[in-house]
Amino acid sequence: MRAARAIRARIDPASPVAGIILGSGLGGLASRIAHPITLGFAQVPGFPSATIAGHAGALISGVLAGAPVLALAGRFHMYEGHSAMLAGFPVRVLHALGVRTLLVSNAAGGIRRTLRAGDLMLIRDHLNLMFRNPLIGAQETGDFRFPDMSEPYDKELGDQVRTHAGALGISLQEGVYAGLPGPSYETPAEIRMLAAFGADAVGMSTVPEVVVARALGIRVVGISCITNLAAGMSSQPLSHVDVLGTTKTVAAQFEALVERFVGALPDPRTADGLREGFGSALQSDAG
Ligand code: HPA
Repeated sequence: MRAARAIRARIDPASPVAGIILGSGLGGLASRIAHPITLGFAQVPGFPSATIAGHAGALISGVLAGAPVLALAGRFHMYEGHSAMLAGFPVRVLHALGVRTLLVSNAAGGIRRTLRAGDLMLIRDHLNLMFRNPLIGAQETGDFRFPDMSEPYDKELGDQVRTHAGALGISLQEGVYAGLPGPSYETPAEIRMLAAFGADAVGMSTVPEVVVARALGIRVVGISCITNLAAGMSSQPLSHVDVLGTTKTVAAQFEALVERFVGALPDPRTADGLREGFGSALQSDAG
């Protein structure tokens, strides 16, 4: 794949323990990555440059909590006019670069009444209400074309995130993420519909990435940052500036949680799962 070859020519090809996609306002995690090599999206063949405030648009290779990672700060949204296939394309690139575990994050509006702005929500399942599928038109056949979606978000990895959140004193919510194309926010009637459909939170991303990840056999963990109560649930009108403002207040918790989760993942390069070369994050994290 051209994109993967171009990236490999510039970064350390050590196999990453995880891929990370950072949602709106959550890109600060990138600054916690040690020994970073940063590639702007414009330097990756097939990547358009990101256009949205809060999305830096860069691929960062480096070490997080002792674990080699590949992080995408920024993503491609369908509301930018991109196809679902392009929205899922970065995950194909991550896969070609060796990613087999993916953490996706996003900003989302809270629908369930127990959710508050500033909560972190583990995504247990999603509703694809984008009415587009990133696998439409793909060349592959078989299980790639018809992937099983009965466990889109890996239960075991999700349980690990829950345990890490507990250890960090973070009260982690969990629920179903509804992906809509945007870019207008929902109407109150649409939010009532989504609640009836079983959605706990709503956003404009993530679903195409997760569908591609599952088609490729990548295990997925999803975390939503609840930035606001969904339309009609508070007297406040919704604004992108407020959404980014809320992510700032939870960024530290989000970063600590992701760092701890990634640092405790087994290293696929070693038989015992312990890390070589970077020192063992498993050991340093155990204290
Ligand atoms: N709706 C859709 N997307 C969002 C929201 C919302 O309320 N908040 C952050 N992203």
